[in-house]
Amino acid sequence: MRVIGVIGGGQLARMMIGPAIELGLELRVLAETSDSSARDRATSVGDFRDLETVLAFARDVDVITFDHEHVPTEIIVALEEAGVAVRPSSAALAVAQDKIVMRRLLDELGHPLPVWGVAETMADVTRFLDANGGRIVVKAPRGGYDGKGVAVVTGADQVTTWLNQGPVLMEEMVDFSRELAQLVARRPSGETAVWPVVETTQANGVCAEVILPAPTDGGRILADAAELGRQIAIDLGVTGVLAVELFETTDGRLLVNELAMRPHNSGHVTIEGSVTSQFEQHLRAICDVPLGSTVSRHPWAVMVNVFGAMDTGRYSRLTQSSDVKLHNYGKEPRSGRKVGHVTATGTDVVDTASRARAVAENFRTDI
Ligand SMILES: Nc1ncnc2c1ncn2[C@@H]1O[C@H](COP(=O)(O)OP(=O)(O)OP(=O)(O)O)[C@@H](O)[C@H]1O
Ligand SMILES: [Mg+2]
Repeated sequence: MRVIGVIGGGQLARMMIGPAIELGLELRVLAETSDSSARDRATSVGDFRDLETVLAFARDVDVITFDHEHVPTEIIVALEEAGVAVRPSSAALAVAQDKIVMRRLLDELGHPLPVWGVAETMADVTRFLDANGGRIVVKAPRGGYDGKGVAVVTGADQVTTWLNQGPVLMEEMVDFSRELAQLVARRPSGETAVWPVVETTQANGVCAEVILPAPTDGGRILADAAELGRQIAIDLGVTGVLAVELFETTDGRLLVNELAMRPHNSGHVTIEGSVTSQFEQHLRAICDVPLGSTVSRHPWAVMVNVFGAMDTGRYSRLTQSSDVKLHNYGKEPRSGRKVGHVTATGTDVVDTASRARAVAENFRTDI
């Protein structure tokens, strides 16, 4: 494997560029537009929903992977039928692309989930509301990201427009004490690697902060999350990085929220925090070469997202911060948009988090 094709030109593709250079791989990106975040390696610009465009892009690459999960399944299947190595495969990815398919399969496999159901009519919603305390979470099965396509509802009438577009996933409102994410890598020959589970904090349904490792006072949470993540990667035959978003309930259980089969926002913290970052590991995994160590380089690493705009005029202020690294995704400013992140490392979690927050705050601009 020498030439990697990434479909999608967002920040995840962008953050694969550095590790690809280090590993001596040629990374090519099929970007949406010429000013996409990964434009430096955008060897093609085109529509990932167009079969001809995707086939032409894939013609001279050794393996295809993804920056997002929105490539239509039939296009991925067509790539496979044309003999292209696609990682993760269409079969695995189909589970991450549709939240109803994901719930159904994980349920069959016996993994722990929130109480869930599928609504096709208002009556279905009313029944589920009645059985689950009158307040539930509804989700569009496909196409959601950053909390878009997720809503808390208290009445069936709030779901009418959703139902017009097809079946809707319904979930109990989970009483979680916190959210976690377990990152796993698996390569085609079967080797797996897990990073310590991280704690994530969402603001308005969007990942805002990540702590590596998730703070614990002993107990089995690290081991349990690692085992659960690894088992899901094996069960679904995932190749590349898999992120398993988890709820830790107030009574100490782990429930699977959703899956992402690619590098994930919760794993940006591994760039400075771990011997092998999720981006390097994803490339190793899809090339089916031995995986790297997931051991942490520091007792703590904390990542804080920057939304809206990244003011490069403020870079000069960074010199005063120690052990804080800035990542700028090179995106046009837009309200609420993820435009970068900062990661701090250190020996004390409270101090590390406050340094990361202070630098992120420095860049937070209201637009
Ligand atoms: N059943 C639930 N009970 C309570 N809170 C929930 C539930 N489902 C989702 N949430 C909250 O909403 C957030 C977004 O939900 P989810 O991860 O399903 O959506 P998404 O838009 O696909 O997310 P992402 O930003 O990871 O792409 C979760 O991180 C969690 O904070
Ligand atoms: Mg999520």
